[in-house]
Amino acid sequence: MVGIIGNPVRHSLSPIMHNRALSHLGLNWVYLSFEVEPARARSAIEGARDLGMVGLNVTMPFKMEAVEWVDIKDGSVILTGSLNTLLFKDSKIMGFNTDGIGFLNSLREKSISLQGRKVLLIGAGGAARAVAFVVAQQEVARLTVLNRTPQKAHRLAQELSSFKPETEINTASYDLGLALVISDSDLIINATSVGMKDHPGIPIPTDDIDQRHIVYDLAYWPLRTELLRDSEERGARVVSGLEMLIHQGAESFRIWTGKEFPLPIVREELTEYLKSIEDRSR
Ligand code: ATR
Repeated sequence: MVGIIGNPVRHSLSPIMHNRALSHLGLNWVYLSFEVEPARARSAIEGARDLGMVGLNVTMPFKMEAVEWVDIKDGSVILTGSLNTLLFKDSKIMGFNTDGIGFLNSLREKSISLQGRKVLLIGAGGAARAVAFVVAQQEVARLTVLNRTPQKAHRLAQELSSFKPETEINTASYDLGLALVISDSDLIINATSVGMKDHPGIPIPTDDIDQRHIVYDLAYWPLRTELLRDSEERGARVVSGLEMLIHQGAESFRIWTGKEFPLPIVREELTEYLKSIEDRSR
């Protein structure tokens, strides 16, 4: 038994994703979802361990506080200060963060290399942090952080610089200079909530985006955000957040089962599901 703990958690795609993978591989496992009161989250996790569950995904709002509840932290957790995966082993709770490696693997699958690239990261929250630390490790030519609240962008850039002093890391602001930063970037990553179904809009103007750009939106609902639609129309190569979702899930799955995730099967299942709810919400 595996599952996800969070609040709210009822809209999570993880149960669909993992149950599809488990049944495809013929494993006699089940993935369940647990919406837990914040004050009960720690005891619920300990209860899951004591019940003999294999592991859990952890989502909002417990990704940071759960770091304090684990016995053994993977390097990814120490680096980002947050986790999304627990493995219960020998009565111990082990914590992992598969978001960063999931992001990297999604690019690798598409043969997109980060080496020598100029990267513009929009956002400085939890999702942005997970991506920022793995990007900084990839010999990029430059990593620029842009955020609505500039202080948070500066703080993240400072942390990244102390972690990787040899990488050029700076910040950009929402001002006249932004157009230049956009046109001088190779890979643009949206890690803000702007563009998601409940936060419609676009995080940056797209006038300076063209066929030289790769635009990755970590949002997957809708499948094509306004940023991705506009960028694609302008000739950019676009990547949906569904890819990172699938790849972070693949890493969690490997930690729990030791087996390879059936990526194409899961991608097809989730794409069809998202399209069906998109049709229904029209
Ligand atoms: P997550 O864990 O999903 O990253 P988060 O930590 O709350 O969530 O971060 C949300 C990110 O989206 C932040 O970078 C936030 O900017 P602020 O730091 O200024 O809050 C960004 N964001 C949210 N709403 C936004 C908006 N309307 N315009 C621009 N940025 C926004």
